[in-house]
Amino acid sequence: MLFRSETDTEVIVQLVDYFVVNQNMTTKNAFLKVLDLISVDSSYAFVLVDRTTPDVLYVAKYKSPLLIGLGDGFNLVASDAIAMVKRTNNFMEIQDREMVIVTPTDVQVTDFAGNIQKPVTFKLDIDPTASDLGAYPFFMLKEMDEQPAVMHKIAQTYFVQDGELILDAKFLETMKQADKIYLVGAGTSYHAGLVGAKMFEQLTGIQAEAYIASEFAYDQPIMVKKPFFIFLTQSGETADSREVLVNVKKQGWPSLTITNVAKSTLSREADFTMLLHAGPEIAVASTKAYTAQIAVQAVLAKGLGEYLNNANAQNFDLRQQLGLVAVGMQTIIDSKEQISELANKYLVNSKNAFYIGRGTDWTVALEAALKLKEISYVQAEGFASGELKHGTIALIEDNTPVIGIITQQRTAALTRSNLHEVLARGASVITIALSSLAVPEDTFVLPDVDALLTPLLSVVPAQLLAYYTSLGKGLDVDKPRNLAKSVTVQ
Ligand code: F6R
Repeated sequence: MLFRSETDTEVIVQLVDYFVVNQNMTTKNAFLKVLDLISVDSSYAFVLVDRTTPDVLYVAKYKSPLLIGLGDGFNLVASDAIAMVKRTNNFMEIQDREMVIVTPTDVQVTDFAGNIQKPVTFKLDIDPTASDLGAYPFFMLKEMDEQPAVMHKIAQTYFVQDGELILDAKFLETMKQADKIYLVGAGTSYHAGLVGAKMFEQLTGIQAEAYIASEFAYDQPIMVKKPFFIFLTQSGETADSREVLVNVKKQGWPSLTITNVAKSTLSREADFTMLLHAGPEIAVASTKAYTAQIAVQAVLAKGLGEYLNNANAQNFDLRQQLGLVAVGMQTIIDSKEQISELANKYLVNSKNAFYIGRGTDWTVALEAALKLKEISYVQAEGFASGELKHGTIALIEDNTPVIGIITQQRTAALTRSNLHEVLARGASVITIALSSLAVPEDTFVLPDVDALLTPLLSVVPAQLLAYYTSLGKGLDVDKPRNLAKSVTVQ
């Protein structure tokens, strides 16, 4: 057969056409035949239309997300519910290896052998206006501004009954058995897991470690006897994370998904779900989902720690701390002008930048660098500040921007000494320091909060720096090149 295209979706249409024209098949049978021919190792989400019957959609998916929206006199197909909430809040799941025929008034689900399947439908309560831009120029700015409200929302949602933290007992009992917590995520969600791991260890005494999903899926370490998996995913649809979850389920290991999207694939497939309650996140660069993931992990770590009678958890007033975080975030957000000036002075015309810190501050440096590179295309690196002198300091030259994050008492002096080293080599140094550790020369001072929660504040100036750098370069902040909001391929 002659290939007329190198684009996979176009090849599929050609193949359907081939069976219809040359083997006299109906469109439905030709579609089924093609689905059968496609290797099960691939992933796909198809909506096929035959131009002679434009009211009929032939739909199938394998591993990739796809959902039917059910309306009155119309039906919709999209990869997630957010895309459809302005039209309906009724949805129908599609399972792998099913074929669905959708018309304006009917949805018929069969397996590949033609047996009728009973579909699962669900309702979602999403405020359709939550995904409107309003008076904002970009969703990213709106979403950063929403962070204090998200902190309040998380506190209100999880601290019920006179401010007591209530979590599902069955879930806590399952987690209690674990001898290690594995936190799995990609990109920003992985960075949130790095912060979470420290909170779980301090508040529960259970060993915890964060892993990059795409690495864990193909390079699994030696496992403990009783692992517990936490999947961190804003969208709930990330293919790399799902690959790990599929194997976790095969092994019979218990799992929780922490996600922003109820009924998303990873939420449906894990044993338990905790929601971020951050509202839809539209900008490709994740901001409020990162801080919400940290806050929800703190909720869980405290809840589990209390269940285990851990003194650190018992003495940690998380509800009050989340209130302080919200106020602190607002103070930073109100200093946008200053951050915009810093971005224009140091970053807009720079080719590269370094974020440095130690421990928790290093994990925020990783996230800060990711934010800057993905929306401003400035080559940025997040670095453990003590490692600089082991090689990377060779890159520092006149005016190289180095941003130091200083929020931990134990390492503050050490990071400051690393900043002196780069200053002596001509770097332009910016500091983001916690008030109780600040010196008069610091560029940006963060209000004090508990040492475990400082990432919730130190990341905000870094998010704003990335935003204003992108804006200063005249780029499309919300839709950076080469990136998609949900990464549904491995
Ligand atoms: C960066 C960003 C990505 C996502 C990553 C995982 O700003 O948004 O790095 O964090 O693609 O996505 P989720 O959290 O949907 O699994």
